[in-house]
Amino acid sequence: MYETWSELEAACRECKKCELCKTRTNLVFGGGNKDAEVMFIGEGPGEQEDLQGLPFVGRAGQLLDKMLLAIGLDRTKVYIANMVKCRPPKNRDPFPEEQDMCIDWLRNQVYLMKPKIIVCLGRISGMRLIKHDLKITREHGLWFEKNGTLMMATLHPAALLRNPAQKPEAFKDYLALRDKIREICTSTKI
Ligand code: URA
Repeated sequence: MYETWSELEAACRECKKCELCKTRTNLVFGGGNKDAEVMFIGEGPGEQEDLQGLPFVGRAGQLLDKMLLAIGLDRTKVYIANMVKCRPPKNRDPFPEEQDMCIDWLRNQVYLMKPKIIVCLGRISGMRLIKHDLKITREHGLWFEKNGTLMMATLHPAALLRNPAQKPEAFKDYLALRDKIREICTSTKI
């Protein structure tokens, strides 16, 4: 484990552990507030993220920002990372082997940040980080405890763009997140 963010990020930026390094424009390490109590974990960079080197800056990111704002959050109050740091070609799901190669970077981010709450955006991170048989449609919005960290999965904002009818149901997860933050977080004021 790297003990500082700067060492971790520098090492991660050199990563060539899987084929995705060959097609990336930029590696997307993460973004937001590293001292935050709440961490969001998506799937992997899309086109805009790959071009800009920042997480959730495309259309899905704009929707995420809207939902965060609606519960009093923004990127100064949370940290956002992804399961894989480099864009899978044509936005396909990252292969399990690619996730295996990448997950130690994420583990190290979690180790340095020590978030109180982790929100998995979508089934890819939910199944990998909460439980392998997570049923996102039935179990989104539920809290799971793992090694002292509270975790929840919610529907991926890109899925909500494809199926806007699910937005009200997904937004309940954000309200549950707001309540949980008020209950257990000490420095996140919302
Ligand atoms: N979708 C993700 O899962 N992550 C991003 O950073 C952008 C879109």
